[in-house]
Amino acid sequence: MVFKVSLAGAALLGAVSALAAIVDTRLVAKAVDPCAAIAGQKWVAPAAVRACFTSFQVDPIVKANIIDVANKTLAFHTSVNFEKLAPEPFTADVHEDLLADFARISRQSYNSELDLHIDMSRTLKRLNDGHCVYINMCFDSVFLSFVPTPLVLLTDAKGVQNVHIAPEAFTVASAEFADELGVWQNALPGNLKGKLSSLSGAKVLKINGEDPFVAVDANALITGSFQGFGTRQNSFFATYNLGSTGFTYSMGNFGQMSLPLADSVTLTIQRTGSNKLDTITLPYRSRIAVSTTWTDTASFRQNLCVAQPGTNGVDLSGGDITKRDEPSASLMGAFQQQPKISPADRQRHALNVLLDTSRQQDIALPPVLTPANPVAGSAGVAQSFMLDDKKTGVLALGSFSDTSFDGLEQAMLSGLQSLKAAGAKQLIVDVTGNGGGFICLAHWLHRIIVGPKSTTNLQAGLDTMARAGPLAQLIVQRITQDNADPLNLLNFNPLNWQFPNGTHFTADHDWLQPPVQRVINGRQDAFSPRMADQCQPFDMDPPSEALFAGKDVAIISNGRCASSCSLFSVTMAKEEGAKMVVVGGKKDVVQQYCGTVGGQSTDFSDMDTEIKTTGLKNNSLAPPDFMTNSVQGITWRLGFGVVDPTQPEEWQNRPADVNLPLTADIVNNPIALWKQVAKTVF
Ligand SMILES: *[C@@H]1O[C@H](CO)[C@@H](O)[C@H](O)[C@H]1NC(C)=O
Ligand SMILES: *[C@@H]1O[C@H](CO)[C@@H](O)[C@H](O)[C@H]1NC(C)=O
Ligand SMILES: *[C@@H]1O[C@H](CO)[C@@H](O)[C@H](O)[C@H]1NC(C)=O
Repeated sequence: MVFKVSLAGAALLGAVSALAAIVDTRLVAKAVDPCAAIAGQKWVAPAAVRACFTSFQVDPIVKANIIDVANKTLAFHTSVNFEKLAPEPFTADVHEDLLADFARISRQSYNSELDLHIDMSRTLKRLNDGHCVYINMCFDSVFLSFVPTPLVLLTDAKGVQNVHIAPEAFTVASAEFADELGVWQNALPGNLKGKLSSLSGAKVLKINGEDPFVAVDANALITGSFQGFGTRQNSFFATYNLGSTGFTYSMGNFGQMSLPLADSVTLTIQRTGSNKLDTITLPYRSRIAVSTTWTDTASFRQNLCVAQPGTNGVDLSGGDITKRDEPSASLMGAFQQQPKISPADRQRHALNVLLDTSRQQDIALPPVLTPANPVAGSAGVAQSFMLDDKKTGVLALGSFSDTSFDGLEQAMLSGLQSLKAAGAKQLIVDVTGNGGGFICLAHWLHRIIVGPKSTTNLQAGLDTMARAGPLAQLIVQRITQDNADPLNLLNFNPLNWQFPNGTHFTADHDWLQPPVQRVINGRQDAFSPRMADQCQPFDMDPPSEALFAGKDVAIISNGRCASSCSLFSVTMAKEEGAKMVVVGGKKDVVQQYCGTVGGQSTDFSDMDTEIKTTGLKNNSLAPPDFMTNSVQGITWRLGFGVVDPTQPEEWQNRPADVNLPLTADIVNNPIALWKQVAKTVF
């Protein structure tokens, strides 16, 4: 009888309590196949997803394969030895010995494939390098787990900072989660039942019985992607981003999780206008995030867990480039933090872009918070706005990629020209949540803003180097000596690269010979000589004069500006004197204005294509094909710094000039935020 009641409760409340979750899981596991139990469902309890995921036992052959592919692919990742112990100011943040951890993971046994996955995923995330991420599509973002109370860090009139439920939380949740809201309404206790809307804006005094920053800081240790601790704290909180089809809302790591590892959260809150403290427990609910379907464990494994077309590279030596163009061939694309790009642009233009274990979402920013009336020329992820002070123009730039490279290149220019024509004297570039994209568009934007000058004439970007491991050297040798890439389809083809003086490499230039030896963290490592950024001349004519002086530009974000966004921000800040503004960071923590700089990012499948096309797949250094549906990202070229040009920019300091406090009236309200920046920063 008790059993029945708690089951009914579990169904009603969605397995809220840990006890109900255990009962639920056991029943599911005994009665039916745990993956069949969540098949065809939109919303389920995280425990039910876990029951499916933890039912997969570790196959030692598959485990060895995952480690072998990742380990051998990392021979192409520029930063393995740097990341063993990063220089200051990131020494405390980046100190991961990947080879040692792979050896540990090889020895360790795991209760389930999910446990192995979590260890692999978090090991790579400890690099705090959003290019070098391990993803397994059997687990990551198959379901996303949500609570309807995303959090923000607000500063009050006295300058005191507190965690709050976002003022817009209910507006967002009622639009996005309308079909699940009842579960959360019913989960609220006593007279709060059904009053989820009254929680918006509430001060959060405790999360699971502890100071909220215990949870914020614990998340900062596992979220990865950015070197700066402050930036990883900020990832806990909700923010916004301009996507290809409009402004979107990012729930933050508290509001949205890519693995079903939390069943519920208990918050002690003080609602706005109330003196009383309330303690509430809200269930996490998992929503399906893939279009792939399954009916049972066997079809789940087959459709989601084993290698798919695109997981591994292809042999292009026959010249059939369509092999690389199939839509499925960019599995990584779903996890790159940029809009979907065309296969043709993916071929033609090198990328530097953040990878995340969360797929890109399109939760809408509430209409009342969404900026209206962009100026003429705005399009897609590049929308420009004139503020009513009549002197401040704003370029909201959600990504350095869009559905069309040329379209974005044009939209950046025409939007800025419209702002100039409307009388703009100063410019805010809002790169909130900008995960990078096309490298050459970062340099294009730098060039068109500041005009032709010594920092933009030959190249507006950074010199870079690639890693020259033994297999990389063999690939270049095959290309330059055996003509293994006559159609110039490969990254390692010298025809794609230039000396720092802008002179192109010739087809027979074996550019990894001799490798440049460097000693990094006590280990000898080989790299290419310096190369230019290969973007100039641009394929569109830039204006002959500056649109804005560097000192009249402010670049704002929550610090989560990565990859090509970092290339743009670093050159604008360090070469042109732009003002760098981070919004909403914890007061006593240094806020970095960007991170994950890299130079050019790519992944295992791309390196595998280089290996297969040059006939080197049989070499003992070549990674085998992935047996699993996995992605291993890498930094393929690493940019040199501006302040210290002899060392990578990746671990050089990038402190913001201003850490702008967020108040309830400007948080996640771009127009209000821009006005505040215009008033206080210039
Ligand atoms: C990883 O690769 C290195 C060579 O770079 C090798 O010495 C090591 O044994 C490999 N580790 C594992 C766990 O396979
Ligand atoms: C550019 O640099 C390369 C390598 O140092 C050199 O061989 C070449 O002559 C230079 N080109 C010019 C135009 O100076
Ligand atoms: C790799 O080796 C296998 C077996 O030794 C052979 O059948 C295959 O043709 C080789 N492939 C290449 C690309 O050399």
